[in-house]
Amino acid sequence: MAQYGYFDDAHREFVITRPDTPLPWLNMLGQDEFYGLCTQTAGGYSFWKDARLRRLTRYRYNNNPMDNDGRFLYVKQGKSVWSPGWKPVRTKLDAYECRHGLGYTRIKGRKDGVEVEQLMFVPPQENLEIWKIYVRNKTKKTQKLTLFSFVEFCFFEALNDMTNYQRTYSIGEVEIEGSGIYHKTEYRERRNHYTLFGCTRKVDGYDTSRDAFVGVHHGLHDPKAVFAGKCTNSHAYGWNPVGAHQINLTLKPGAEETFAFVLAYVEQGDLPKFDAPFVMNKTKGREILKKYSDLAAVDAAFASVKQRWEDLLSIYQSPDVPNEHLRRMVNTWNQVQCMATFNLSRASSGYETGIGRGMGYRDSNQDILGFVHLLPERARQRILDIASTQLSDGTCFHQYQPLTKKGNADIGGGFNDDPLWLILSTAAYIRETGDTSILDEPCGYADKPGSKDTLLHHIETSVSYTLNNRGPHGLPLIGHADWNDCLNLNCFSKEPNESFQVTGDIAGSKAESVMIAGLFLYAARDLAALYRFMGKADDAARIDGHYADMLKTVEEQAWDGAWYTRAFDAAGNPVGSKSCKEGKIFIESQAWCVLGGAGQTNGRARKALQAVAKYLYTPEHGCALQYPPYSEYHLELGEVSSYPPGYKENAGVFSHNNTWIHIGWTMFGEGDKALEYYLSICPSAKKDHDKYRSEPYVYAQMTASQFSPTPGEGKNSWLTGTSAWSFVTASQSILGVQPEFTGVKVDPCIPKKWKGYTVQRKFRGVTYTIEVKNPKGKSKGVKSLLVDGAKVAGNIVPPPTDGRKTVQVEVILGA
Ligand code: GLC
Ligand code: GLC
Repeated sequence: MAQYGYFDDAHREFVITRPDTPLPWLNMLGQDEFYGLCTQTAGGYSFWKDARLRRLTRYRYNNNPMDNDGRFLYVKQGKSVWSPGWKPVRTKLDAYECRHGLGYTRIKGRKDGVEVEQLMFVPPQENLEIWKIYVRNKTKKTQKLTLFSFVEFCFFEALNDMTNYQRTYSIGEVEIEGSGIYHKTEYRERRNHYTLFGCTRKVDGYDTSRDAFVGVHHGLHDPKAVFAGKCTNSHAYGWNPVGAHQINLTLKPGAEETFAFVLAYVEQGDLPKFDAPFVMNKTKGREILKKYSDLAAVDAAFASVKQRWEDLLSIYQSPDVPNEHLRRMVNTWNQVQCMATFNLSRASSGYETGIGRGMGYRDSNQDILGFVHLLPERARQRILDIASTQLSDGTCFHQYQPLTKKGNADIGGGFNDDPLWLILSTAAYIRETGDTSILDEPCGYADKPGSKDTLLHHIETSVSYTLNNRGPHGLPLIGHADWNDCLNLNCFSKEPNESFQVTGDIAGSKAESVMIAGLFLYAARDLAALYRFMGKADDAARIDGHYADMLKTVEEQAWDGAWYTRAFDAAGNPVGSKSCKEGKIFIESQAWCVLGGAGQTNGRARKALQAVAKYLYTPEHGCALQYPPYSEYHLELGEVSSYPPGYKENAGVFSHNNTWIHIGWTMFGEGDKALEYYLSICPSAKKDHDKYRSEPYVYAQMTASQFSPTPGEGKNSWLTGTSAWSFVTASQSILGVQPEFTGVKVDPCIPKKWKGYTVQRKFRGVTYTIEVKNPKGKSKGVKSLLVDGAKVAGNIVPPPTDGRKTVQVEVILGA
């Protein structure tokens, strides 16, 4: 089994030791408005706010080789040409290392005694990325070499860039000033922004035409200019503008040269656009290059990237958790992934092209659950933005564009789980902050521009929407789909050119979802608890009543004998029932009925989890989504039956929904099972990377299941709801530190053999050090709770009333 790298936990880095990983292993740079995707060979692209509408550098998805565009460096040393990140040249290196850290990637390559290091990061609150470069002569002889930089510009609107060559080949425009290459396509007309690619030291040449630098019949692996040893100082008029610099270096034995490249997105704002016809006003670009020409400013910017992550991670740390995988995920990588999913939703990654999907209504609400502790103010704004894409009848735009914050009309609405997720995100925000004022914030409905309805109004609209849209069994109507985007019970598509998500008439349809019923139970409990916290007993009681009704319906209509039915199709036939030939049992209805509190008194919840264990689970890969996979396409089921068996929603292991089962086990005190299941999908715990292929430090959306021909293959990493939910699972359900409306609740559910651990949690301005001790080898049940030495009844630590900023908590398990 090949070894590709290891975790350096002390530095919070994943170290990749050979560049030819089984798939590109990606890192995410930036967390405000400027983002960069960066792989272990410096592949990837950068954009400002919106990967579709403001893409700065070009990237070809579905390329061969994979991941073939990026932030490239070339070294020409005598006859040899190489890249420190191995690609694009792929000359064999004498040494290579890539460190993916928090918000930065550091790649180091050595050949024939020369080492080049490229440290890439995005400084906080700035719209640019920096590559700090170190060139070192490790030999005893003077070395002469030429270093080239390279990026290919994108014409900002990525879809057009990728499709409309009759136009794009004639619009490209650049300007060059010193080491500054200004990409200004469409700047003369409606754009008031440009891309700058500059170097902090004097350069010996440049190119801006791809044909000149690379060559029409050459590739990035053998660019003409690099092999010739010098740039041509080309000026791009149309075709494909690029940015390339040439730097000649003579290095004495042991010498090191450092400098930096800056790739910036610049908005001109109110400045005059031009100094003269065709000469843009470059004031802002010059200022940026000037600032970073002082390498002390580069180092300070990098220090602030590191400091920011230190500060963020200090909000939740559990340094001595006995299991190393859970420890590093919960303390570091899972939180990093939560940041990425919050920022990018499902828009841009190695698998999401930045064009197809913007922010998702259900996805972004769930992302908040794992993010809200990090930056609650940003979560607050996001909740209000999302709510504003709801319509006044309760339906929601399924997706919206981050730049415009407007609902995406192509996909529209009619995904009937969408409205309810808003309740979960809002409750999580208020639990974290205690700030109920968010409920009074005006955030109008998308179909009533200027309306001032409050967030609470949206929440009540969501509740009524579900209650008022129910089918023959009294269960919520599914619409185009519920959480499972591919369960399209109203689609009936026979036409391969149609989208499963938008096809089909949902008006008047009777297809129902048990998953939405379970989600409603969960949301109703959240909302009732919130009303109680706010002293609104009548509203709480009203919601309790709806809860009881829905619970009764679920128990009467959805119990299939050994598990919960998944849905009823448009003809009223059960989906996910023992009476079905295939797709007899689905994971989502077990998960949500259990999480919503169904089956608690009659033993069904436990049975439902046992059925998951029996039919869906394997310890190597986790739980498949359903069983048995569909072997034929079913008109009445839609996309779920379209995938080959064992992949994606057709019985693949969809990591996201696995986490709900993990939480389910903790509800029953099954701490050993919870950890075992947690580890079954945990990327850090994957042993065979040639089989798993995806990054070992972030979750993948899907792993091919035991029902597929390639079990254990991970796909679609980074942007998945798994990240938020597994952080909730690990930090709240297993390690048991739960933000509650009235304080911090401690309710662990751990493996029996764990002796204890500590959690440091900053919560509403107070730092809690929570020490959990397990002298009797139990999994769950708090026997005693000491808060600063004083015994407190129950398991909620009340916030200090005397202004203390640190609180010591001791919890002994064993009730
Ligand atoms: C994808 C979607 C998410 C959906 C899931 C299951 O992850 O982003 O919205 O719930 O697939 O279909
Ligand atoms: C979900 C599914 C994916 C599907 C998409 C939209 O994200 O995971 O399989 O293509 O929904 O159709």
